Amino acid sequence: MKAQWMSRRDFVRLGAGAAVAGAAVKSTLLEPPELAAQATAGGRKIRFGIVGTGIRGCDLLRSARNVSTGVCVGSADLYSTRLQAGKEAYGADFDTTGDYRRLLDRKDVDAILIATSDHHHRRITLDACAAGKDVYCEKPMSHSVADGYAMVEGVAAHKRIFQAGSQRVSSVLYEKAREIYASGRLGDVHEIDAQWNRNSPGGAWVYPIPPDASPETIDWKGFLVDAPEQPFDTKKFFRWRCFRDFGSGLGGDLFVHLLSGIQVITGIHTPASRAYSTGGIYHFKDGREFPDLLKTVYDFPTENGNIHLHLHCNQANSDGDEGIKIYGSTGTMVLTGKTVTFTPQDVRPKFESYGWGGMTAAQRTKGLEEFKAAHPETLPAPGDGESFMLPQGYDDTAAHLGNFFNAIVTREHVVEDELFGHNAAIGCHMANQSFFHDGVVRWDAETKTIKA
Ligand SMILES: NC(=O)c1ccc[n+]([C@@H]2O[C@H](COP(=O)([O-])OP(=O)(O)OC[C@H]3O[C@@H](n4cnc5c(N)ncnc54)[C@H](O)[C@@H]3O)[C@@H](O)[C@H]2O)c1
Repeated sequence: MKAQWMSRRDFVRLGAGAAVAGAAVKSTLLEPPELAAQATAGGRKIRFGIVGTGIRGCDLLRSARNVSTGVCVGSADLYSTRLQAGKEAYGADFDTTGDYRRLLDRKDVDAILIATSDHHHRRITLDACAAGKDVYCEKPMSHSVADGYAMVEGVAAHKRIFQAGSQRVSSVLYEKAREIYASGRLGDVHEIDAQWNRNSPGGAWVYPIPPDASPETIDWKGFLVDAPEQPFDTKKFFRWRCFRDFGSGLGGDLFVHLLSGIQVITGIHTPASRAYSTGGIYHFKDGREFPDLLKTVYDFPTENGNIHLHLHCNQANSDGDEGIKIYGSTGTMVLTGKTVTFTPQDVRPKFESYGWGGMTAAQRTKGLEEFKAAHPETLPAPGDGESFMLPQGYDDTAAHLGNFFNAIVTREHVVEDELFGHNAAIGCHMANQSFFHDGVVRWDAETKTIKA
């Protein structure tokens, strides 16, 4: 069924996908608030600069066009051609520079969006905070646990608003999932599975290397910054996600989105107590350092017992695409990129003939009589399943930016603050450390480090 067939009224879809035989799934199209109608308190328009106008930076700028509460007034990038790419993405002119510190010098800039490779996030965030700017920093927030702590401290020391860039946490889909989770309809939850699979070179970070890429157009020294000295390498510059000096592999690219989504739905706001990863470089043997298949099992202690989380990303088979499945004792919730579905479990007491199969006929008859006496009433079948879907064209990045711009004016909490982003990034670092260490790792809250 195509989404555009649906009216904004509910419709009922019988059968397919319902775990309870004969149960119905009621499907509702979500209605997000109109972004155009949003205004920051006092109607102030946030003036922001952006550092890094590559793939994500350009996407942020395309989304920002629809967020009337902010205006881009400048950009910085180390690859000169991308200065033009950023302006094209935004569809308007603004000042550009190769050195982001020039943006920070500007008194007319309220906030900085950071969309650089992961190894720059700490330095730019700290410089921006020291310059009195509020910060939106792309995920994964940190390139290491220590970087994350330095960023948390920097934001607090300068009293800045900080938003990490896992935009799904601002999505109306996740808001609905959080509402269902908080309602208790899932019962006891001890297991979550989530995956993000792809099957294309681009999905495995084999991005194009433009012919004009050279030491003349790229500030390689500026790119290396805190990374070890190494010769100019366009593969490392454009496909940095594959390399440990600059990126964080599948952990930082995709796990962190899943972890952030799970944090926002469940309210878990601590690192996992332990994690174990396995995987390998099986398909993309192109000199990369991070695996193209990664599976990690985490334990998250909660008041109600552990939640076991299994994350899985495969870059050579896209089956399942993006999804989170939460298993509870009275229901199951499944999120895809565009839908969230709750299906109740049928937990009505029943006379379970399987267990009585090894008894005599007399025992079975007696057992059935006792069961009937203990359960004189027939309980109603579990209610319908429920499914909610995003309208076509919904842009969670625009919603996330809108949330950030508004918080700059109100100085109230953003949806994904520095601690939230830091915890999600720790999950990515635990996954990677376990993979490279080839064993279980544990979170040591006392020393704030991952212990192998
Ligand atoms: N939220 C999402 O859905 C999402 C999607 C993709 C990427 N990301 C994140 O966005 C960030 C950027 O990823 P990308 O795919 O755009 O990478 P990219 O390589 O396409 O672009 C990064 C750009 O940053 C520039 N840059 C790096 N350091 C700089 C510095 N100090 N000053 C100025 N410019 C600098 C580079 O020159 C490059 O043009 C990463 O952290 C990535 O994980 C998030």
